[in-house]
Amino acid sequence: MEFKDLLPRRRMVRHYAPIPVTREQVERIVATVRRAPSAGYSQGQRLLVVTAEEGRAEIARVMSDSGWTTPEDREPWLESAPVHVLVLTREDDYHERYRRDDKLVEGAEIEWPVPFWFVDAGAELMLLLLAAIDEGLAAGLTGVEGEAAAEIRAAFGIPEDVTIVALVTIGYGAADPGWSAVTCGRTQPRRAPDDVVRWERW
Ligand SMILES: Cc1cc2nc3c(=O)[nH]c(=O)nc-3n(C[C@H](O)[C@H](O)[C@H](O)COP(=O)(O)O)c2cc1C
Repeated sequence: MEFKDLLPRRRMVRHYAPIPVTREQVERIVATVRRAPSAGYSQGQRLLVVTAEEGRAEIARVMSDSGWTTPEDREPWLESAPVHVLVLTREDDYHERYRRDDKLVEGAEIEWPVPFWFVDAGAELMLLLLAAIDEGLAAGLTGVEGEAAAEIRAAFGIPEDVTIVALVTIGYGAADPGWSAVTCGRTQPRRAPDDVVRWERW
């Protein structure tokens, strides 16, 4: 699919049809992450793919228990998604990379202008969202708050030096009018181009 056709189709989908997604589809989607940019080529991006029913149910349970809940008047989100992908980052990859000779500034690691490990996680998750659409699928994303992140870390054996950034759900999209009514471009206007992009001078 051409990028110009793909991008307008990009939106968070929070409900999925009960149609299985093949292993090959998932493999192609997650493989795109290796093409994500990373500061200094630190490659701190990591993913944890959860397709087994038991694992997905555990994530849905933890998220629900933490207060992140699918209200009864909305479509089931995590419960309906055949694929969950935890988007992760390993900050230490950046410190290790930027302590190598070619990255030192006056003999020391740089002052980080912003946390590049989270910047790169954003690039990583964007590739997932777009690659899902390219496969004819849909994707959604939610943050994972502290308590839930700790429980998921324990349940799935995620090491302490790897941070959970977000949870991406993937599957064949189903109607999600309840969710769409709450948070998306259908209910809130998109910022005007001039508001978002300035030219030559602020
Ligand atoms: C870092 C991040 C965290 C988000 N967390 C949530 C979330 O917790 N729950 C949710 O419903 N959507 C979440 N979203 C999705 C946004 O609400 C969504 O991208 C935004 O409303 C614009 O809609 P669109 O992506 O469909 O165009 C998150 C998006 C990002 C980038």
